[in-house]
Amino acid sequence: MSSEGPKIVCFICNWVFCDKAEPATNQTQHIPPNVNIVRVMCIGRIDPVTVLETFEKGADGVLLVGCTPPDCHFVEGNLYAEYTVKMLKKLLALTGLEPKRVELCWHSPIEELELIHFIKDFAAQIQKFGYSPLARQKPDEKALLNVSAAKNAAADFRLRVLTGMERELTENLNVYGEKILQEEFDALLDEVIKAEFIRHKIRLLTKEKPMSVKEIAAITNMKPALVLRHIVNMRRKGMIALDHVERTTPLYRALEIY
Ligand code: FES
Repeated sequence: MSSEGPKIVCFICNWVFCDKAEPATNQTQHIPPNVNIVRVMCIGRIDPVTVLETFEKGADGVLLVGCTPPDCHFVEGNLYAEYTVKMLKKLLALTGLEPKRVELCWHSPIEELELIHFIKDFAAQIQKFGYSPLARQKPDEKALLNVSAAKNAAADFRLRVLTGMERELTENLNVYGEKILQEEFDALLDEVIKAEFIRHKIRLLTKEKPMSVKEIAAITNMKPALVLRHIVNMRRKGMIALDHVERTTPLYRALEIY
């Protein structure tokens, strides 16, 4: 760790500061120099891709601070931020980075000093994990590939649709008069996130050069049968295509537009 400590990016809802400008100024004076504050109009507007890009660029930790529920000025921003962080933690776990490198907390302008404590506690938590493998001068290639795959999975409309439907699916009855239990939804989300992450990883690998199932399996540490199952699914979705056959081995290539 450098003498300044881990690099932390803190996205803060602008309204956290809004009502009491003076204490906010006092607070920002006490923010450690290794913490970069980025104000946003509502924490619910933070895109998961932006957070993953922040990790990709070498941040060691990302903290999201929003208005204490139910004070979001855009009504449901708190809820969307919770869904985003839930998805991000699952994706970070798949990349090999500690899920606790991203956290969400709530703050109200009337609690003057708490914000500094949140930030300092988070910085101490990240300090324990050490540098992100992406924060080095030469980022770890495997970690870079994993975070890029996570970023592409988070941008994929399939994952966005499912994440955005959590409340609808777990709180309302569907057309058959059934409600999905929270545990069932979480299990489904885990499954979809994992599948999208793997598929985007395969896509990134085969973008560079056509590869066989065996080659992909060796790089990703997966069983060839599982890689093949994903490739069949990806071909159906138009994410990948057969490039050519070498002797008897088919080689696959990612499609640019799908
Ligand atoms: Fe602050 Fe939405 S306006 S979290």
